[in-house]
Amino acid sequence: MKNTRKALAMTALLFAASGMAFANGGAQNQAGGEGGLIGVVMPTRSEERWIKDGNAVKEGLENLGYSVNLQYSDDDIPTQSRQIDDLITKGVKVLVIASIDGSALSNQLANAAAAKIPVISYDRLLMQSPNVDYYVSFDNYKVGGQMGDILITGLKLDQATAAKPVNVELFAGSPDDNNSIGFYQGAMDKLKPYFDKGALKVPSGQIDRAVIGTLRWDAAEAQKRMENLLSAYYSGNVVLNGILSPYDPISLACLEACKSVGYGSAPGKPLPVVGGQDCIVASVKSILAGEQYATVLKDTRSLGAATVTLVDTLMQGKTPTGLDTKSYNNGAKIVPSLLLDSVIVTKANVKPAVIDTGYHTTAELGL
Ligand code: GAL
Repeated sequence: MKNTRKALAMTALLFAASGMAFANGGAQNQAGGEGGLIGVVMPTRSEERWIKDGNAVKEGLENLGYSVNLQYSDDDIPTQSRQIDDLITKGVKVLVIASIDGSALSNQLANAAAAKIPVISYDRLLMQSPNVDYYVSFDNYKVGGQMGDILITGLKLDQATAAKPVNVELFAGSPDDNNSIGFYQGAMDKLKPYFDKGALKVPSGQIDRAVIGTLRWDAAEAQKRMENLLSAYYSGNVVLNGILSPYDPISLACLEACKSVGYGSAPGKPLPVVGGQDCIVASVKSILAGEQYATVLKDTRSLGAATVTLVDTLMQGKTPTGLDTKSYNNGAKIVPSLLLDSVIVTKANVKPAVIDTGYHTTAELGL
């Protein structure tokens, strides 16, 4: 409990910043949080961010005196369903769930509701169920807008014309993850004026989210698709200038596919401008090396801290206030949401945004 005061101060600050407040002065009652078991379910250990997320939530809750049962399921839906049922049987007081397929857990959520266990949907919205109490995430539409902005800036789209259009290919996230819709929509709304005036083109014609989606955010699948696109649509004078990517491992995989056919080494074929998301170590290294152009940093420490404060508030029997009650309809209800801000990271602001904030250390980045 020695870090309790610090953690409380941090979360209080965070909520002041995000505009969220708690009825009855939530974060002041330290003793109220003692002793309950909290279930935390994350999708996979094979992605850097979920490890950071899991650790942030676990450590934050433990600092407030809770016990935490943290589960990962290797992106396997039946395993995740089983884990949630087990946690309900173990008597957890609150469930924090980052789903694999947002629509696959309705039975588990009904079981949680029957056992009066509040459910917090973490980062990804749990869909098609009335049994979701809160959603803690980033503003996913805004994140998508930042992905669009990255291409607008990186490709200097304001200077592009129909006479000399810029060529891009588009990648979207996993179709079973509701976030993918926000990312795609936010980016496409930003890019639309450039498509409309013919300054931006997709030579493959593959634009629909259903066609450009990447199941389970699988970088290998994206790399294969990029290789196929390059061989089918980019011969002769047709050069790929940019890639819309919703996720750093997809960005890096696409860059690999491009390098394998001469981008970045052959004359007239610079590496395409590609953004990304999650600010993973490998992408920050790539950005510093001048390869990946940018990424979107969604600070998992803030998301973890916001979740911890929400859990603590619920455990104290208080009602969270100041939530967004309009933006996130999961198909069964509007889920009250806390939406955090994200930051674009390019080579120019790696130091203030990533290193000075301690998100990655210079040692991790090999500096
Ligand atoms: C999304 C998440 C992204 C990224 C992706 C792949 O749901 O919002 O930040 O992590 O999953 O894991």
